[in-house]
Amino acid sequence: MSLGAFYHGKPDHPGAVVVGAQGMLGTHMRELLTRLGVPFVAVDREEFDLSSAEAVNASGLDMSAVWFNCAAWTDVDGAEEHEDKALAINGGPGLQALCGRLGDAGGVLVHVSTDYVFEGNSSEPYATDELRSPIGAYGRTKAAGEVIIETSGCEFVIARTSWLYSHHANNFVKTMAKLTDERDELKVVSDQRGRPTSAEHLARSLVGLVDAGARGMFHVTDGGECTWHEFACAIRDGLGHACEIAPCSTDEFPRPAKRPAYSVLDLSKTESVLGAMPSWRDNLEAVLNQLRVQDRARSA
Ligand SMILES: NC(=O)c1ccc[n+]([C@@H]2O[C@H](COP(=O)([O-])OP(=O)(O)OC[C@H]3O[C@@H](n4cnc5c(N)ncnc54)[C@H](OP(=O)(O)O)[C@@H]3O)[C@@H](O)[C@H]2O)c1
Repeated sequence: MSLGAFYHGKPDHPGAVVVGAQGMLGTHMRELLTRLGVPFVAVDREEFDLSSAEAVNASGLDMSAVWFNCAAWTDVDGAEEHEDKALAINGGPGLQALCGRLGDAGGVLVHVSTDYVFEGNSSEPYATDELRSPIGAYGRTKAAGEVIIETSGCEFVIARTSWLYSHHANNFVKTMAKLTDERDELKVVSDQRGRPTSAEHLARSLVGLVDAGARGMFHVTDGGECTWHEFACAIRDGLGHACEIAPCSTDEFPRPAKRPAYSVLDLSKTESVLGAMPSWRDNLEAVLNQLRVQDRARSA
């Protein structure tokens, strides 16, 4: 059933629910659904606490709608110390309760997961049906969430994504835009390879998958692949900044959580439904344009 079919002819039907609506992806979901004219309800932690089964069970929201779950514990390093808290949001009883209620009411869960469910020691893109092999706490909690959804019996789309960026919220593109403007030199790791993903493109793809009646596990990223160093250079060049960016190894920037070295997600299943994913360079250019617009508005 398409997203349109959920609200067509039912003016009072909420159509969609966006959970984690104030986050980076949640913001794009809200903008997109507004643009498409899809009625929706947007909730964040205060109105709908996904970490609490009691809160989910007590919710009066329409469980027959399409639920876009953009809520998550996304602090990868923080999850190492607080895995229980991360698990409560990413793969705990609250998510289980939501799946149960959606299953009973005929709703659909559109859930977002991550490349971090894979170890990252491959040399070819990870297929959607590859065995999960997380190397850190965040990946383990996201993998747990996937298992809950897959075994719940509710209708679902899980979209694994990677390296999300946007002109909204804090993310790598905005950090690099600032640093390459302020500094003459930078070091960025060149031994982690993946696929950047415009959050705006991800939001459109989630709606596209629902509209196509797709169900199951998908990978959604921009097309192409790169290292963080290549990505940083493209951001600098796109903005015309002069900063020198030296490649370095992950070992030079020790972090609490280990990162997958190779987290390229295979897109073939998704592309068979939605067509070729736009390249990260094109999507990046669109986001850099948005940053320029924001800058102009700020200095006007
Ligand atoms: N960012 C990336 O690079 C990346 C990469 C791969 C996959 N993903 C996945 O993509 C999805 C979207 O990520 P994002 O970067 O847009 O996340 P984000 O900006 O961190 O937003 C997450 C949202 O979830 C909310 N939230 C946290 N705990 C909640 C709870 N218990 N109940 C309800 N809402 C809660 C947060 O609210 P508060 O602000 O109040 O905490 C925030 O609004 C997530 O599933 C993430 O795992 C992200």
